[in-house]
This record gives sequence, C-alpha cells and structure tokens, in this order.
Amino acid sequence: MLIRRALKEDLPALAEIELEHPSYPAWGAKGLLAELSNPNAITLAACDGAGISGFVNFWIVRPEVQLNAVVVSKKNLRRGAASKLLAKMYEYAKKTACISVELEVNAANLPAIKLYEKHGFTVVGCRPKFYNNSGDALLMRKTLPNTPIREDLGPLGLI
Ligand SMILES: CC(C)(COP(=O)(O)OP(=O)(O)OC[C@H]1O[C@@H](n2cnc3c(N)ncnc32)[C@H](O)[C@@H]1OP(=O)(O)O)[C@@H](O)C(=O)NCCC(=O)NCCS
Repeated sequence: MLIRRALKEDLPALAEIELEHPSYPAWGAKGLLAELSNPNAITLAACDGAGISGFVNFWIVRPEVQLNAVVVSKKNLRRGAASKLLAKMYEYAKKTACISVELEVNAANLPAIKLYEKHGFTVVGCRPKFYNNSGDALLMRKTLPNTPIREDLGPLGLI
C-alpha cells in the first residue's frame, strides 16, 4: 500500500469514501478541495492496485498536529489502512518537530476510539453534546517523542 499526498484528481474518490460512512460528518469534494488549498493542511491518500482505500487529513499547528479525519472505504476496513495513514502522519509530525497529536472523536465511534487507543492516544477531555447537541466529543492526545522546536522552520517544516 502506497501512502502519498492527495491530489485534486483524487477528490471524487475521497468524497465517495466519506459517503460510505453515514454517521461520519463528510466534508464533500468542496470541503476537501479547501483542505488541499490550506497551506497548513496535509491530506494523504492510501492507494493500492484497486485505487484509493482511504485518506487522512491533519493540520500542522506547531508544536501540535491536529488530526481532523481518517476514513477508510468499507471494503478495505481492518486491513491496516488507517494505521498506515497515521504512521505517515507521525513522519510529518517528526519532520516538523511537533510534540503531540490531538483529535476530537464522537464518543459513540468505537472503531475510531479503538484505533486511536491502539496508537497510544488517551482521552484528555470531553465536550458534552458536541455533535448536533447530542453525541459527546472526546478529546484525545498522543504525545510524540520529544523533539526540540525548530523556530527556523516554516509551518510545514520547510526552511
Ligand atoms: C476508524 C477507521 C478509520 C479504522 O480504519 P481501518 O483501516 O479499518 O483501521 P486499521 O485496520 O488500521 O485498524 C487498526 C486497529 O484499530 C482498531 N479497530 C479498527 N476498527 C475497529 C472496529 N470496527 N472495532 C474494534 N476495533 C477496531 C483495532 O485495534 C485495529 O487493530 P486490529 O485490526 O489488529 O484489531 C474506519 O473504521 C473508518 O473509516 N470509520 C469511518 C470514518 C470515521 O469515523 N473515522 C474516524 C473519525 S474521523
């Protein structure tokens, strides 16, 4: 499985994957396009011979990474795609000297919570009735191996 930066041409496939998960708050092709234009945002696609199996989107907000979305197509679930996407995100975090990853997840989204726990995230807070005034949001954080902050780096770690 290859993990690479998502391209404009990938957006219909990414939007389709979002729609496979009715309870996931989809961005849609327009929202995803805005992410490709955001200089602090990175969207990575997982690809295999059959096409795109999933994607991750995160923001580099040094010294933190904000994980916004990780979504995998139904036919590729439990094959390690999300874990590979997260592993690539950690590489970006390392390159940009980020010290933690933060995210917000619906407390009812057990597959996602299990995934994050497996990756070493812990719950650090809760926002009651955050999703449409009903579902609670859990705030989760993973601390990354401590890396000194490089003040000479730009937002994406480029000098
Ligand atoms: C959450 C999601 C991204 C996981 O993707 P995935 O590619 O299936 O995850 P992986 O195969 O990398 O799984 C890694 C681990 O996560 C946990 N996990 C993943 N799905 C799980 C499930 N349905 N039930 C329990 N644990 C689960 C397991 O510990 C798993 O390891 P294992 O398979 O060795 O037991 C996927 O279910 C998804 O796209 N959900 C809809 C979108 C969404 O809600 N995203 C999260 C919020 S943005």
